[in-house]
Amino acid sequence: MKTLIRNGHIVTATDDYHADLFIDRGIIVYIGQDLQFLVPAADEVIDASGLLLLPGGVDVHTHLDMPFGGTTSSDDFFTGTRAAAFGGTTTIIDFAIQQRGHSVEEALDTWWAKAEGKANIDYGFHMILSEVNGETLAGMGRLVDQGITSFKLFTAYPGVFMSSDGEIFQALQKAGEIGALVAMHAENGSVIDVLVQQALAHGHTEPKYHAITRPPEAEAEATHRVIALAKMAHSPVYIVHLSAKEALDEVTVARDKGQAVFAETCPQYLFLDDSRYEEPDFGGAKYVMSPPLRSPDHATHLWRGLAGDDLQVVATDHCPFCMQDQKILGINNFAKIPNGAPGIETRVSLLYDAAIRLNRLSLNRFVEIMATMPAKLFGMFPQKGTIAVGSDADLVLFDPQATTTWGVNTAHMQVDYNPFEGYNAQGKVHMVFSRGEKIIANGQYLGRAGRGKFLKRKTFAAP
Ligand code: URP
Ligand code: ZN
Ligand code: ZN
Ligand code: ZN
Repeated sequence: MKTLIRNGHIVTATDDYHADLFIDRGIIVYIGQDLQFLVPAADEVIDASGLLLLPGGVDVHTHLDMPFGGTTSSDDFFTGTRAAAFGGTTTIIDFAIQQRGHSVEEALDTWWAKAEGKANIDYGFHMILSEVNGETLAGMGRLVDQGITSFKLFTAYPGVFMSSDGEIFQALQKAGEIGALVAMHAENGSVIDVLVQQALAHGHTEPKYHAITRPPEAEAEATHRVIALAKMAHSPVYIVHLSAKEALDEVTVARDKGQAVFAETCPQYLFLDDSRYEEPDFGGAKYVMSPPLRSPDHATHLWRGLAGDDLQVVATDHCPFCMQDQKILGINNFAKIPNGAPGIETRVSLLYDAAIRLNRLSLNRFVEIMATMPAKLFGMFPQKGTIAVGSDADLVLFDPQATTTWGVNTAHMQVDYNPFEGYNAQGKVHMVFSRGEKIIANGQYLGRAGRGKFLKRKTFAAP
């Protein structure tokens, strides 16, 4: 299949120009002015006049079909990746979970089975290590050979995912040796556990106590600690879902000293705040995620961090649970509310709105944080994350004039609420290509389940 896109306004992390673009067998093969002579060679010619031509979004933090607290996130690899495509995202990295007492290979087989025959866009996996021992450390090396070049460890969730400092240190050392990147969930889980038990003992059971028992200092302390561990291990580190200004300060200080520290934040921390926990009738449960939403001042600092490159990535942490039958598990105890919120579909739109209407970012920086930097940090660039000759033709034709009103009825995520309900975003996804195949047009999904391919990722290289 050969496609010619004419009169595109191409925006990448570095460039902004008008050109035609020719796709052959899934790859961008020509970009140039007035490629009219290629019209006869094309199976389809698309006029992109008035539209932006952007790289497909790269979301490096999703949890599809993920077991958590006795239930499973409500989007699977079919519904979740289809929603991603509708929202202009063409690549995800999801988290496979090595369960205690089981090998990393078992985890990988389980997650391959979840994705196979279902994924609508290309996907990679990070591996969550619930245990660090001789066996899982050796497993890290085997996974890197298979293109799983990043791992997630936790300083939170004692008894489930939490690793000790010594364990995290060993995983960081190993990662440094084999060219992998460790992603850290940084919150002090031991302190949080005490605060949770104390709140419950006082009869504080409502959703807002989830936030009250996870203070910014718990995030800042753990962020400081994992940065120090990474320094001692001589390895890079990536902080996931950073939410607190005090944690950002830790990243900033380390980066200013030249340490290879990278960090992501998420749209929920940029666009929402902790007043949401006051929503009546258990409504605050919609926003129970870890870290929690913060007071509005934190977001101001996160925007500054994004503009100044102390934060490099905006990913979603898409981890949806329905209010009706999943969040409700914590109706009498906030600690039993499954943690997470949906966002795989809304990210690109919200960030474009922030760039253009809210004047928070340049258009190039918008592309960089939503596609280019995530692709670079996680070993997928330049196959993914940019528009260039030789790159996969993962493209979004984006209408800058239209608007998108987000809500549970306009989104395609399989969940019964939308944290961004009623948000009017400037711009609208018009058409989406994945490896040259038109998968979204006229508001319809045109791909097929299972067309998404597993991405064997390269080892870490500083961006
Ligand atoms: O609340 C969250 N973030 N749920 C997903 C799991 C994680 O820690 O990323
Ligand atoms: Zn996490
Ligand atoms: Zn401030
Ligand atoms: Zn997550």
